[in-house]
Amino acid sequence: MARSLLLFVLCALPVLSSAWRKGNPFLIKGRVYCDTCRCGFETRKTTYIPGARVRIECRDRTSAELKYRSAGNVTDGSGTYHIVVEGDQEDRICHTVLVSSPLHDCKVADPGRNRAQVILTRSNGAVSDLHFANAMGFFKDKALPGCDKLLKELLQDV
Ligand SMILES: *[C@@H]1O[C@H](CO)[C@@H](O)[C@H](O)[C@H]1NC(C)=O
Repeated sequence: MARSLLLFVLCALPVLSSAWRKGNPFLIKGRVYCDTCRCGFETRKTTYIPGARVRIECRDRTSAELKYRSAGNVTDGSGTYHIVVEGDQEDRICHTVLVSSPLHDCKVADPGRNRAQVILTRSNGAVSDLHFANAMGFFKDKALPGCDKLLKELLQDV
């Protein structure tokens, strides 16, 4: 008993200490929306999509080669997702990316909002494990009634 415990400790220690050096995993949080006005940004008519699939990809800064791809995850009832990333991605360029939408009439990713950059390194002095990504969106097939009026109002406020 004591012996197997000792063995366990001896085997587990190196694993634990390398995990310690790398720091806690990062937790990335963001939302996925349906752009119901097809305007490229969130408005008060925007809805959030439960069950949308996203993942994180990191590429080499110079070659753009894919170096890391997280497991996918899906958004909860409020359209919010969480993705855990183990390990420091150093100077790689990392994005959360849209994978799919469960809505048949809102499943074409907005090319301007289909990814959001996330910083997954502590070499820049970041201390928090929780990082927020900008929201990403799919276009509704047809803009909702009232969007013209809403967009006119928004433009007047600029
Ligand atoms: C997926 O999301 C759930 C709930 O938000 C979270 O508990 C889980 O750790 C996530 N999975 C991954 C692989 O990030």
